[in-house]
Amino acid sequence: KPELYQEPYRPQFHFTPQQQWMNDPNGMVYLDGEYHLFYQYNPYANVWGPMHWGHAISKDLVHWQQQPVALYPDKHGTIFSGSAVVDWHNTAGFGTKDNPALVAIFTYHDHLQENLGATTYQSQGLAYSLDKGRTWIKYQGNPVLNSPDVKDFRDPKVMWHADSARWVMSLAVKNKISFYSSTDLKNWQHTGDFGEGIGAHGGVWECPDLIKMRVNGSDEEKYVLLVSITPGGPNGGSATQYFVGDFDGKTFTIDPAFNQQLSAAEVTSPSKQPAIWLDYGTDNYAGVTWSDVPKADGRHLFIGWMSNWQYAIKVPTERWRSAMTIVRELQLEQLNGQYIISSKPVDSLSTLITETHSVNNITLAAAQPVDVVKLAKASELGQKVQLDLELNQASVVELSFNNAKNNLKVIIDAAAGELILDRTAAGLADFDVNFPSVQRAPLKIEKGVLHLEIFLDRASIEIFADKGRTVMTSIVFPEQPYTKLNISADNTVQLKQVTISQLSSIWQKK
Ligand code: FRU
Repeated sequence: KPELYQEPYRPQFHFTPQQQWMNDPNGMVYLDGEYHLFYQYNPYANVWGPMHWGHAISKDLVHWQQQPVALYPDKHGTIFSGSAVVDWHNTAGFGTKDNPALVAIFTYHDHLQENLGATTYQSQGLAYSLDKGRTWIKYQGNPVLNSPDVKDFRDPKVMWHADSARWVMSLAVKNKISFYSSTDLKNWQHTGDFGEGIGAHGGVWECPDLIKMRVNGSDEEKYVLLVSITPGGPNGGSATQYFVGDFDGKTFTIDPAFNQQLSAAEVTSPSKQPAIWLDYGTDNYAGVTWSDVPKADGRHLFIGWMSNWQYAIKVPTERWRSAMTIVRELQLEQLNGQYIISSKPVDSLSTLITETHSVNNITLAAAQPVDVVKLAKASELGQKVQLDLELNQASVVELSFNNAKNNLKVIIDAAAGELILDRTAAGLADFDVNFPSVQRAPLKIEKGVLHLEIFLDRASIEIFADKGRTVMTSIVFPEQPYTKLNISADNTVQLKQVTISQLSSIWQKK
């Protein structure tokens, strides 16, 4: 019996549940030095089933302590995705001034009603905790918000809107996001809708997140709306798009400049949909940001489910299924008149680094691949690889992470302006026809050096290109760890620096 967390494909620095099935991250909230992560969880099987909220706590967004299941189904249904807030002003009356309640706002899915053919069966409910998330009490007056007439009515993300002194809920309602407001978290008024005819609509809209963000290096504030959709992602299946605009307390309106970006994106998007994606890889879904991160900190901390509804229940693991992405910090930038969300790996990941090897100034000549692991004198391929490439306009550079049997390719095509990830020969892939894919992302290569930061775990690759402006997250199942990194180019390219860092496992006892 393999030791827990040592099984094949068990991620070493990504959160996974000890056992059984996990999907969306839920209810992320910070309180008193602890980052809470809840998640869609089936405690009874390694496939999707009756949903609960599993729970884990971290002090550094890297090491996680598994907690008992937080929310169980009840007579109103199973517990679908949602969010959590700290009720500092005790608006709902669950806590006290000295001990504010953590309040979870989630979707009930009533399978009984669904099976009976009812027209609606999703509603929103509340639960609260007075002991920092350790135990939860369901609100007696549940549900607090019923669906008027639609089946898809779910995934409430709640935030405090200071300007109107109200709570605002963003809710996924079939093919749009609806906004609701409340003074007490219990009574909700519908105030607006966004999304019909805008953005990608290849599938149902899910898991919204409305985030107030400051534009990097300026005082300008915008609202960003994350919307997950499945299917219809840029490289097939599930993915998360975003919109930049304004929010007046009632509804979200898109910024005119961003609207133009959307039309332009339709041309370059792999799926030819008018959308801009947070992550172009196939495996970052249903992600949202942490609530109540202290103002003084100010980071927008994000985590996503590292899988895709196309094949999530078939991936080749048994004891558990699915991992979360590494935590990322989202930033809003304005670049050449365009709004861009960039994702940066959370700083605290660097505490895992045990050893680092670097090589500088390698000239790549056409068709002469170099093995940088050897060059850097690293004993093996580290889990974090950083590269600075001085591209010329026409270069095509190929990174090949490989072992005797498998080859995972990352291609930078400067002429086409694309980042390409090819996992067709990266490892086990025949468990689903959609899995062996070649994935594409638009790259805004500016003159000069392209910086790539790549995180490789036992079953995933996360690529942050161009300071996180182009991101690709993808799961892979190599039959043995990749030990070599070969880099080749089709014409002369300067490889200014490659750094290979070893990351220690987060599951080791300290
Ligand atoms: C997204 C989603 C949510 C839903 C949950 C159910 O992956 O479909 O819309 O609340 O998963 O597990």
